[in-house]
Amino acid sequence: MAAMASTVTFSLPSPAIQTSFLPRTHRHPRFNKKRPFNFVSNKTVSCRASNGNENNEHSSSPNRFDRRDVLLGLGSVYGATNLVIDPFAVAAPIAAPDLDLCQKATVTSKTAGTIKVACCPPKSAKIIDFKPPEFSKIRYRPAAQLVGPEYLDKFTKAVELMKALPEDDPRSFMQQANVHCAYCDGAYDQVGFPDQELQVHFSWLFFPFHRLYLYFWERILGKLIDDPDFAIPYWNWDTPAGYALPAIYNDPKSPLYDEKRNVNHLPPVLIDLDYAGVDEEISKRDLIKSNLSLMYKQMVTYKTPSLFMGAAYRAGDPPAPGMGSIENVPHTPVHRWVGDTRQPFNEDMGNLYSAARDPVFFAHHANVDRMWTIWNSLPGKKRRDFTTTDWLDASFLFYDENANLVRAKVRDCLDTRPLGYEYQKVDLPWLNTKPAPRRPRQGKGQAKAAETSKTTVISNTFPIVLEKPVRIEVPRPKKSRTKLEKEDEEEVLVLQNIKLDRNVAVKFDVYINEEDGETPTEPADSEFAGSFTNLPHTQHSGGKKLDTKLTLPISDLLEDLDAEGDDSIVVTLVPKLGKGQVSIGNIKIEYVRD
Ligand code: C2O
Repeated sequence: MAAMASTVTFSLPSPAIQTSFLPRTHRHPRFNKKRPFNFVSNKTVSCRASNGNENNEHSSSPNRFDRRDVLLGLGSVYGATNLVIDPFAVAAPIAAPDLDLCQKATVTSKTAGTIKVACCPPKSAKIIDFKPPEFSKIRYRPAAQLVGPEYLDKFTKAVELMKALPEDDPRSFMQQANVHCAYCDGAYDQVGFPDQELQVHFSWLFFPFHRLYLYFWERILGKLIDDPDFAIPYWNWDTPAGYALPAIYNDPKSPLYDEKRNVNHLPPVLIDLDYAGVDEEISKRDLIKSNLSLMYKQMVTYKTPSLFMGAAYRAGDPPAPGMGSIENVPHTPVHRWVGDTRQPFNEDMGNLYSAARDPVFFAHHANVDRMWTIWNSLPGKKRRDFTTTDWLDASFLFYDENANLVRAKVRDCLDTRPLGYEYQKVDLPWLNTKPAPRRPRQGKGQAKAAETSKTTVISNTFPIVLEKPVRIEVPRPKKSRTKLEKEDEEEVLVLQNIKLDRNVAVKFDVYINEEDGETPTEPADSEFAGSFTNLPHTQHSGGKKLDTKLTLPISDLLEDLDAEGDDSIVVTLVPKLGKGQVSIGNIKIEYVRD
């Protein structure tokens, strides 16, 4: 399908044309109602469905209109009617934003009120399409805990120079931090869809956006110290040797330092990747076990692109269709763990608008990016990237090392080698830390788990507002599947229409067939299916709640719990952070094949 589509790529008109064409105030483009070509093609449907992300609950949104109608409308306005003859011609990748329409980000919290943050980039008359230069050698991004003094000198010098650039230089440290703010806090709406925010989190854009963002940050640093081979470090939080905030960021005299960090989490304190806002009393041994088990779950048990990378997000879609594995955990907990609880919005790392003002953000995201490369290399025939042009042709704008505004596409960053870098190899101890059932199964696990308990509400009425732990029995449409069937389709637990205010920090955990015991379920237990997290952020249209979904793979887990023959499972939802502020529209089991 990719090959066919690429021969007839349909792209949106340039942002400049779009601007005059769909003024920002035009909330409901008239193309909405227009249906110049009314085709329903099975081919189109199967092509789209093959991404396994078509359970987008947003499609019932009252503001929603079919992006195809809109795109067809654009096509006909431009006289490009030949483009719509083949349904494959109608691609719907998210387009790079129109900088002329960028607006201030609104940051709010219940306790600290509202502030407006100006994080729009400088404008540029010219946009160049990104083409990575020919790199003569690979830059190796080192693990931050392993760098030597020579490297550290270079890195600190580079960041110092970046911080010394004039404020309006798009390569300056603050402007670079603002890039993140603009793409995350509703400064842009989607070109052609003034009702829809452009958001690079909570979807399949998460990995590629951040890869490109870091690439340009690194190239700017290299240019500033006149070392084109310079590579940024990564925070190796997936392995015990890297659990502490890297020491190079903790010297108050260094430009790598940021005082807006949680003072209880400075080195040598080790990170809890399951962090939910409270420092648990836990032995070092248990912490390591918990962290490694979480990494195993998030990396090994997520076996398809949509599960790992996030749900499809196309032009015209509401933001936040659903996070992938790593974005959810441990990406969000790491942010929260570093953010300063004394600051009104948990700046810097604890809020998306300010996160990239802390230099450690880039080390954190380098490790997130590294997880993408590792995931691709693990065995399994579905551990590959999406192949649809709706993903490959999604694009973003960045300023490069020469202060040129460039448009880069997802397809430009699928592999790190053409971008000139790789990651220093270190051990991956989590590959061997498969979680184990908490206790041997006695009789029907799910029947036992369904028993009433004092602390848990049993519910089957939706929506559920998560104030305290809730149990729900969820039927399984298929049971006792063969090995082949399981390889073909992953059984997933889907929590639909998860609604919350964007500015609230949230974490809740999901357990399966958990028998009520005295000890809490931990990531090292098979029963622990995963978590949902939200890092506070805001969108431009305000008021609207985040409406997203959580998809957790459970095939391996059900094998571990010996529950594959059961007609149903018992799901326990345990709010950890943001109690009473999240509601869940529905829970069901589905099968994804991507
Ligand atoms: Cu764009 Cu860690 O967030």
